[in-house]
Amino acid sequence: MNSDGRLITRGLTKVYSGSGSRRAIDQITMDMPTHGILAFIGRNGAGKTTLVRILATQLEPTSGSATIDGLDVMLDARELRKRIAIVPQEARTVAWMSPKQTVLSYLMWRGFDYSEAKEMAVEALARVGIDQYRDKLNRTLSGGTKRKVLVATVLASEADIVFLDEPTTGLDPISRRDLWNYLSNLGRERFTILTTHYLEEAEQLADRISILDRGRLVGTGTLEELRSLVKYRYSIRLQQETQLLVTANGELAKARDGSVQLLTTEDEAFRLSKDLFEKGYRFSISPVTLDDIFFHLANREDEPQP
Ligand SMILES: Nc1ncnc2c1ncn2[C@@H]1O[C@H](COP(=O)(O)OP(=O)(O)OP(=O)(O)O)[C@@H](O)[C@H]1O
Ligand SMILES: [Mg+2]
Repeated sequence: MNSDGRLITRGLTKVYSGSGSRRAIDQITMDMPTHGILAFIGRNGAGKTTLVRILATQLEPTSGSATIDGLDVMLDARELRKRIAIVPQEARTVAWMSPKQTVLSYLMWRGFDYSEAKEMAVEALARVGIDQYRDKLNRTLSGGTKRKVLVATVLASEADIVFLDEPTTGLDPISRRDLWNYLSNLGRERFTILTTHYLEEAEQLADRISILDRGRLVGTGTLEELRSLVKYRYSIRLQQETQLLVTANGELAKARDGSVQLLTTEDEAFRLSKDLFEKGYRFSISPVTLDDIFFHLANREDEPQP
């Protein structure tokens, strides 16, 4: 099969030295198109960063293989690196540099000359909406603006494969949404792989989602494809419990505030909604969200994560 335009992994496995036989990622096999936004989700320690670092050619897998557009992450690493830009999970801006200097130095490190890089830096900073801060010191900027500086570095580069490991963690809801807008634009131009703990973010931003659980890939695809992996595809929520839901087919869960959620089939949801209407209940009904899918696929045994 032609591997151009695809991200393909086969049995990708990583055992860090000194961690015994514990697999940080375990037999990851997937085949995705290399456009739009791909999000990796999973709990702390699920293996997201490990997978990102392997795909970005920063870390060698213990076994298995991965290719992006037909380029092998091990054998063709040099070639692939020219096309890749990454903002690691722990990335921070340098306090005593300005946003412009930050982007500029990154571009020069990638091989652009000064005058070319200067123009590209200014343009990228304007594109993420922080033009007015470009000559301030990074340390005087808010957390959200600092993240935008980091996003601007990858945006400014010529890389057409961009990795962002938890780009929005720790930002307030407004800054996060603001950054989402830039990320969704980025996803239109470049293949963007991001990791996040915000399921709502993955649901809204990503074209495709891979769910990791303790190193294993437990689901991958578009939201619609992920929905087909779970038994119940509809969710009904009510403020209080009612016999109608208790006796229905599906999985009933009760929240601390007394509200209930039933996950059920489309037929049962259809039947129940008529009954609930007739009895005058207020309820909400929707296809299952990524939240529901995630908890179903990644929360089966609740052992603590290291
Ligand atoms: N350098 C390392 N040496 C040994 N073990 C490591 C190393 N880096 C990660 N691990 C282990 O590998 C597993 C996967 O870690 P990883 O950082 O990939 O998870 P993650 O999904 O990115 O987590 P988080 O959401 O907390 O960032 C964890 O058990 C972690 O403790
Ligand atoms: Mg991580």
